[in-house]
Amino acid sequence: MLGAVQLGILAACIVLFVPMGMAGWHLSRNKVLFFSGALFITLAVGVHLTPYFPSISDFVSSFSSSVVVETRDSCISFLHDIVFDVKPVESWNSNISSSDYEVSWGWAKSSPVIACEFQKLGRSDASDLLNGSWVVVAGDSQARFVALSLLNLVLDSDGLESVKDDLFKRHSDYRMVIAEIGMKLDFIWAPYATNLTDLMMEFKRKRNYPDVLVMGSGLWHMLHVTNASDYGVSLQRLRSAVLSLVPISSQFDMDGPVTGSVSIRSPHLFWLGMPMLINSMLNTEEKREKMSSAARNAYDREISDSKLLRQFGGPLLLLDIQSLSRNCGSWCTVDGMHYDGAVYEAAVHIVLNALLIESHQKL
Ligand SMILES: *[C@@H]1O[C@H](CO)[C@@H](O)[C@H](O)[C@H]1NC(C)=O
Ligand SMILES: *[C@@H]1O[C@H](CO)[C@@H](O)[C@H](O)[C@H]1NC(C)=O
Ligand SMILES: *[C@@H]1O[C@H](CO)[C@@H](O)[C@H](O)[C@H]1NC(C)=O
Ligand SMILES: *[C@@H]1O[C@H](CO)[C@@H](O)[C@H](O)[C@H]1NC(C)=O
Repeated sequence: MLGAVQLGILAACIVLFVPMGMAGWHLSRNKVLFFSGALFITLAVGVHLTPYFPSISDFVSSFSSSVVVETRDSCISFLHDIVFDVKPVESWNSNISSSDYEVSWGWAKSSPVIACEFQKLGRSDASDLLNGSWVVVAGDSQARFVALSLLNLVLDSDGLESVKDDLFKRHSDYRMVIAEIGMKLDFIWAPYATNLTDLMMEFKRKRNYPDVLVMGSGLWHMLHVTNASDYGVSLQRLRSAVLSLVPISSQFDMDGPVTGSVSIRSPHLFWLGMPMLINSMLNTEEKREKMSSAARNAYDREISDSKLLRQFGGPLLLLDIQSLSRNCGSWCTVDGMHYDGAVYEAAVHIVLNALLIESHQKL
């Protein structure tokens, strides 16, 4: 990006070299100093006035945004620019209950997002991308919805009907192999960060790591332990476990040396963030009391302090369910905690587009 520093250096060069050039044209030292000073003042005034002239700053910012998207890696930061469209479904008796909303989603139409060319992958593109890979989704019910959404994408409707019941058995693991694309999907019931740490240890012991790992926890801890600093401690442990798991921990953004063996490739790691909690809609008194916005803020602080997330120098890319669920809004939830399938579908497509970006592929 053309930053302030570069502009400053450019200005300094002009101030220095233009009068020096003129000195070559036999100007006296005083005149050089005069031109130097005049140029300096002109540039300084110009720089400070630029923001007040929209056309100039538009030009400057469109220039810098086109430079930004040149490196596709920076598109990662636009992946969550998603808008939801919530429409009441017209029914002939106009008896509308909260389940009668149709939710659709898409990426925002801003210029950097368009330049990034994100796309909703169809079944065959998703299958190509995930062909031969091992995907693990671990966490609480939010993670279960993400796993279901992924299956929804790669399975046809018959296949989906047959797995839905199993996947929705409460509080249990679910593993399946989709033979046609050689993809293995494990859903691991892991409501606490300590469960996720155990899972990391298990990967390490077996020296076998998934290609894609999506995990998250927090809501159970908030409800049943209700101690943010304890949550923070468990996140620290999880972070150490993740870092010890991945051989090239300092280079998470890079792809590791691909030697054909899955266990050597650096896995793609995602943190499934907590959703927006709508206190008045939570369905028990205990939840309304313990899952207050103060508790939520304290838990969020622990997540950033733990440096688990890439944006804070950690290994995991945040799937920002909070921002997605907020964009979808209160029409998208009946219990203030679990959201319409569109939210989790969007999260899956964020994962897939991040995989495309990180593996430097385009469809
Ligand atoms: C509307 O819904 C109510 C309760 O859900 C039901 O009793 C009623 O029969 C419905 N009306 C029509 C026209 O279907
Ligand atoms: C998956 O990859 C294998 C070879 O690695 C190929 O034979 C197969 O056709 C692929 N399947 C899909 C659905 O792309
Ligand atoms: C998850 O961790 C909790 C607390 O450490 C433990 O009681 C529970 O048995 C674990 N659950 C699973 C599925 O491992
Ligand atoms: C909260 O957790 C911390 C760290 O595990 C612990 O030191 C503290 O005693 C706990 N607080 C309460 C009120 O249980």
